[in-house]
Amino acid sequence: MYSNRKSFAIKCTIGALALYLCVHVVTNNRASEAIRELQQSGRNLAALDPQNAEPLLVEPIKEAPAAEPTKPPPPTTEKAQSVLDKVKSVTKCLDRPMTAKVQQRGDYWVLYNYVKAERVFKCHESITYTTHADYSFMDNLLPLLERWRGPISIALHAPGTDFKNTLDSIAYLRDCTDSLVKEYVTIHIYFSTKHVPKEVPRHDHVFSEPYNCSLSPPFLNVSSEQMYKSQKKLLYPVNVGRNVARETAQTHYILPSDIELYPSPNIIPQFLKMIADNSGPLLSKNPKVFPLHLFEVSANQQVPDSKTKLKEMLANGTAVPFHKKLCPGCHSVPKAKEWQNANETAELRVFHVGKRNGKFIHWEPIFIGTHADPLYDERLSWEGKSDKMTQGYALCVMDYDFLILNNAFLVHRPGIKIYKKDQKRAMLAAKTNQLIKKIIFPELKVLYGIKKGCAV
Ligand SMILES: *[C@@H]1O[C@H](CO)[C@@H](O)[C@H](O)[C@H]1NC(C)=O
Ligand SMILES: *[C@@H]1O[C@H](CO)[C@@H](O)[C@H](O)[C@H]1NC(C)=O
Ligand SMILES: *[C@@H]1O[C@H](CO)[C@@H](O)[C@H](O)[C@H]1NC(C)=O
Ligand SMILES: *[C@@H]1O[C@H](CO)[C@@H](O)[C@H](O)[C@H]1NC(C)=O
Repeated sequence: MYSNRKSFAIKCTIGALALYLCVHVVTNNRASEAIRELQQSGRNLAALDPQNAEPLLVEPIKEAPAAEPTKPPPPTTEKAQSVLDKVKSVTKCLDRPMTAKVQQRGDYWVLYNYVKAERVFKCHESITYTTHADYSFMDNLLPLLERWRGPISIALHAPGTDFKNTLDSIAYLRDCTDSLVKEYVTIHIYFSTKHVPKEVPRHDHVFSEPYNCSLSPPFLNVSSEQMYKSQKKLLYPVNVGRNVARETAQTHYILPSDIELYPSPNIIPQFLKMIADNSGPLLSKNPKVFPLHLFEVSANQQVPDSKTKLKEMLANGTAVPFHKKLCPGCHSVPKAKEWQNANETAELRVFHVGKRNGKFIHWEPIFIGTHADPLYDERLSWEGKSDKMTQGYALCVMDYDFLILNNAFLVHRPGIKIYKKDQKRAMLAAKTNQLIKKIIFPELKVLYGIKKGCAV
């Protein structure tokens, strides 16, 4: 075995790239270092900062001794209860505890369940919207909750001095808005081991005093220069956040999404009703996810609150399919025209069963799924793009059915994006493509296999 490895290693001297790949096969450790180097170009300035010197270790949180106050669920009608019972028997799901803990995850410290929602859910009782952000995006929580009215699990990236602003933002939302934040939102915080904040209160001592609500919300009008993340030129580790938020969700069904995507109202009860009915394409043996159509609306428009309204806006051009101009291949959905022409119906149903192949080989759908679905690759950053492509490949190889829902959709916060050239991001994206092609894709082929018609 040893000599095999040695002779293999000798062959590795041909060309820099070949070396890179062989070393990757011989020792996993060195490969991950190399990957880190690839990822960290653009973070060089950060390494010179005194903040980065010795990461302070956070004391592990001991289990809270007494049960924390939790709200009982609101009374449910008999009919709603029978739907939930059926969801429980169809999914055979297990309840998932919500425990505060400090834990390392690769190069990051994660404060899991740092701020818990008051309402606790059994696995069959709802759908959790799981998402990621930094504090400058937290204004989205209010319109999001208004429409979702269900559990949200959010992972916030809060390195260095961004941590304090993040805590203030949470405190503001919990204490100063007449909102559902306290009831529904569970918050996790994470930061690189190289950018640990000066002070991190224990999870049970975070908000000892009420927030002064005459101060303006800390998440409003944040310029990028104000943020520690931009000062240190850190990349945004989007997939660490996505995975943390997903893994901690209490419900069987989850909607991993981006915080600026607002769902159409009433998805939760309608979806659970459909699951309870358990008919048609739901009976297929293939693993399944439930993609939602995505739209953008003009800056001066309201987010439509029904498919009927959405159709009117599509007709007069105030709404358009998501990233129609930026990346049509990433978001076009099978049978999109037919979906847009179909009228709203009384019940939520599957409109069409699609696959991620053919014209849709690069589709990056956003869908309601479960904890069984593959996670996101944490080596990919938001700036480098293609951050959902590796998951898409796994779904394709595993022969997932994409059960596209008829009335449900997501709308980006108002304002239609136009294409702007960004030299730096283009460079990072090119590097990411190399990382995916040379390192990650070969791994995926080993782990998930190969299937005709599937690509990253
Ligand atoms: C709250 O903030 C306002 C505005 O800065 C200030 O005038 C007031 O004294 C503060 N209240 C408390 C109790 O600190
Ligand atoms: C934020 O910026 C907007 C537009 O630039 C301005 O109208 C608003 O007053 C600002 N809000 C705060 C709290 O500074
Ligand atoms: C487009 O349709 C929507 C929904 O009916 C309406 O609110 C909006 O005013 C219309 N806009 C234009 C420019 O016609
Ligand atoms: C769809 O709805 C529109 C407007 O309400 C109506 O005029 C049309 O007949 C409906 N189409 C079908 C196929 O039901």
